[in-house]
Amino acid sequence: MNVDLSRPILVTGASGKTGRSVVSRLVSGGVKVRVFVRRQEAGDELLASGASEMVLGDLLDDDALRSAIVGTGQIMHICPPMHPAEDEIAASIFAHGRDAGVSRLVLYSVLHPMIDVPHHRRKLIAERALIDSGLAYTILQPCRYMQHLAPIWKEVVATGIHRMPFATDAAFSLVDLHDLAEASCNVLTQAGHEFATYQLCGPQRLSQIDCAEILSRHLGRTITAEAKPLEVFLGDARKAGMPEPRIETMSKMNAHYDAHGLLGNSNVLHWLLGREPTNFATYVARDFPSA
Ligand SMILES: NC(=O)c1ccc[n+]([C@@H]2O[C@H](COP(=O)([O-])OP(=O)(O)OC[C@H]3O[C@@H](n4cnc5c(N)ncnc54)[C@H](OP(=O)(O)O)[C@@H]3O)[C@@H](O)[C@H]2O)c1
Repeated sequence: MNVDLSRPILVTGASGKTGRSVVSRLVSGGVKVRVFVRRQEAGDELLASGASEMVLGDLLDDDALRSAIVGTGQIMHICPPMHPAEDEIAASIFAHGRDAGVSRLVLYSVLHPMIDVPHHRRKLIAERALIDSGLAYTILQPCRYMQHLAPIWKEVVATGIHRMPFATDAAFSLVDLHDLAEASCNVLTQAGHEFATYQLCGPQRLSQIDCAEILSRHLGRTITAEAKPLEVFLGDARKAGMPEPRIETMSKMNAHYDAHGLLGNSNVLHWLLGREPTNFATYVARDFPSA
């Protein structure tokens, strides 16, 4: 099946971390992108950086979704993280996509949607609905991003402690968001990815202890790993104004991470990129070079 690039690709969640990375990759490859955003200024920024079209609306507004989808060739659906209506939003997008005759739906899901964590479960429901929708699709299942270091970077440098709210030996196949954007762009623009589900993981098995060791080498001083206590995590989240349902979901996610980590395999990402996925030391050197 040929890839339809004559009509724009609709990207939802386009002003978020993942959305911006994916849009930037597509635009630099000369692909026409229609961004779905809920803030005019975010849309203006994306247009200035090369997006072709913008639709302003809320993902919960069915009419806005329908009109955003008409005239697009493919949809890259990136739902806001831990959205309580993720499965319903996905179902609406799939129905409108089918009605509008889009050629493929690419769903940005998560690694192991079947685990017992609320937002994984909602992504699993979305995956099932997509498989049953009659649309051609590709499902992307990324692991936890390396970029979760960015919000704690100043604290790491100031205190010498790498502190996230789960066990220091819980291991993850941390993956670089730049690699994910490149792989997403390849999937959207190259033929042959219909009806595929791709696990997208980094090349290492990394715990907080491993990350702290790599950071110690990078900074030339000792960084130690520490599990952030639950009550400190909850206090910080409430102080930052995080809504209670999201705090609850994050607590369940962190409890699962604490017990099991989140591990997958990097072979598929390697194949999609045509190179070894980025390792953690390379990511740190690239994003925090002056440290
Ligand atoms: N972070 C990870 O490690 C990881 C791993 C695997 C999968 N994922 C998945 O990746 C996806 C994207 O995560 P992210 O961290 O890139 O998200 P993010 O930076 O928080 O961005 C969320 C986006 O959704 C938009 N948004 C929120 N509510 C909306 C609404 N009601 N209507 C329209 N737009 C709305 C936001 O718009 P504003 O700019 O206006 O706020 C923003 O563009 C999530 O589904 C997450 O589960 C993440």
